[in-house]
Amino acid sequence: MEQITLATAQCFIFLTFTIISSGSPTFQAIPFTSSKLVIKLVHRDSIHSPYYNKKDNVTIRIKRAMESSILRFTYLQKKVRRTWPEDDFQADVLPSADGCVFYTNISIGQPPVPQFTLMDTGSSLLWIRCLPCRRCSTQFGPIFDPEKSSTYAYLLCNSQYCHYAPHGRCNLLDECEYNQTYIQGTPSVGILSKEQFIFKTSDEGSAPIPDVIFGCSHENGNFKDHQISGVIGLGFKKLSLIAQLGSKFSYCIGNVFDPNYIHNKLILGDGAMFEGDSTPLEVIDGRYYITLEGISVGEKRLIIDSNIFKRKTWKKSGVIIDSGSSTTWLVQEGFEALRNEVQSLLDTWMTRFWYNSWTLCYMGTISQDLIGFPAVTFHFARGADLVLDTESLFVQLHPYAFCMAVLPSYASGDNITNFSLIGMLAQQNYNIAYDIYGKTMSFQRIDCELLDD
Ligand SMILES: *[C@@H]1O[C@H](CO)[C@@H](O)[C@H](O)[C@H]1NC(C)=O
Ligand SMILES: *[C@@H]1O[C@H](CO)[C@@H](O)[C@H](O)[C@H]1NC(C)=O
Ligand SMILES: *[C@@H]1O[C@H](CO)[C@@H](O)[C@H](O)[C@H]1NC(C)=O
Ligand SMILES: *[C@@H]1O[C@H](CO)[C@@H](O)[C@H](O)[C@H]1NC(C)=O
Ligand SMILES: *[C@@H]1O[C@H](CO)[C@@H](O)[C@H](O)[C@H]1NC(C)=O
Repeated sequence: MEQITLATAQCFIFLTFTIISSGSPTFQAIPFTSSKLVIKLVHRDSIHSPYYNKKDNVTIRIKRAMESSILRFTYLQKKVRRTWPEDDFQADVLPSADGCVFYTNISIGQPPVPQFTLMDTGSSLLWIRCLPCRRCSTQFGPIFDPEKSSTYAYLLCNSQYCHYAPHGRCNLLDECEYNQTYIQGTPSVGILSKEQFIFKTSDEGSAPIPDVIFGCSHENGNFKDHQISGVIGLGFKKLSLIAQLGSKFSYCIGNVFDPNYIHNKLILGDGAMFEGDSTPLEVIDGRYYITLEGISVGEKRLIIDSNIFKRKTWKKSGVIIDSGSSTTWLVQEGFEALRNEVQSLLDTWMTRFWYNSWTLCYMGTISQDLIGFPAVTFHFARGADLVLDTESLFVQLHPYAFCMAVLPSYASGDNITNFSLIGMLAQQNYNIAYDIYGKTMSFQRIDCELLDD
């Protein structure tokens, strides 16, 4: 796996260990006045982003996304392997800016201090850099100073939430200290607190939410990404923002590689949009599992034993839907069935391009050479379909060559785990909604712009 060592694709990986005590109190959803919390997502490469680099072009962005997809999948495989016994510890991943494509601009406190945070379905803790801040050498924007905010409060050790903090413990001031350890480097340590969060809404307004529980992070480990002032983990665990806001959310992404598309959005709470096909959703260790039953290319249903996608705990299998990987990953048999069919359609009139042994690539351009190529459909339980057009199935890896953005799970070199992952390219132009307590997920093909009102 040579790609993994490429300097452009570092991913910060950290593990948090949380002891889940039985009989713990249940969480109350935070009541908030705004009936619909629609958060505008900022693309990593948009001109409004601190990562904006004039020299980046679409080829560079796609390479970066492909490389970080491998890192993401490899990390998830490690996490799945380690989750045994299931509830003893939890692991989180925090990808660096290279892997993460979407950000949100929020403000916290009174007076509000703007923060540029990363949206990540791979982790669950919401944390923001706080003063006094150790290891915050290079800064982007003001660091939040809890002492200057009239709405800040730290949580006491006896707070129910302290149970769920990674390595939560009492410090000498009776505050609940958390310690989130990284696989490499120094941990992130802070105080579990509550504060007013003000989200920027897609109509350029703002939505204040009081008393959001978050990690006020005083030590930020070796989190080299100085541009980011925090992380909004969308994974589902007891402390995550999703759990605090009532366990529903939805997002709509138009084009993963278009930094200028302004209608990408995230809806948190009861305003999440549930439309279109729905399918059962299961949350395990913060990850989102759905049931894939088959794949079609055009009208042709591929011959695949649907058992290969089933989740069998002891086999570390199943199908995860994720926003951290651009590409989709399929277990060997599923991948081969799809690749063989795509290959049989394209081999007859296109020239192969060699990228690596498991990526199917051709010379040509998606927009000109694949006109008329049939849509590929992923069929999920209860009849929900996710339809991939050519822009969702292939990526233009070079100006003159494109590749299928579906890879085999074994490509990461791991033959112990056996799971598949639906990546972000496959979710383009869909509204994807998660109802965790209702155990359902919905997807509807839509122009995200239509969700603006
Ligand atoms: C985020 O919001 C702050 C304050 O409103 C603003 O100064 C900053 O430019 C915004 N950043 C982005 C990337 O939109
Ligand atoms: C992007 O830049 C790279 C390196 O400068 C170059 O090789 C590539 O052809 C460029 N891609 C496009 C689409 O212009
Ligand atoms: C956080 O946890 C790590 C790993 O267990 C430990 O080495 C470190 O000393 C802890 N830091 C604090 C401030 O508790
Ligand atoms: C993965 O699943 C396939 C299909 O069920 C099976 O043939 C294969 O042995 C599994 N691999 C592992 C490592 O469990
Ligand atoms: C799994 O990988 C290991 C190490 O690469 C290899 O020795 C072993 O033969 C592989 N097992 C299977 C079933 O492919």
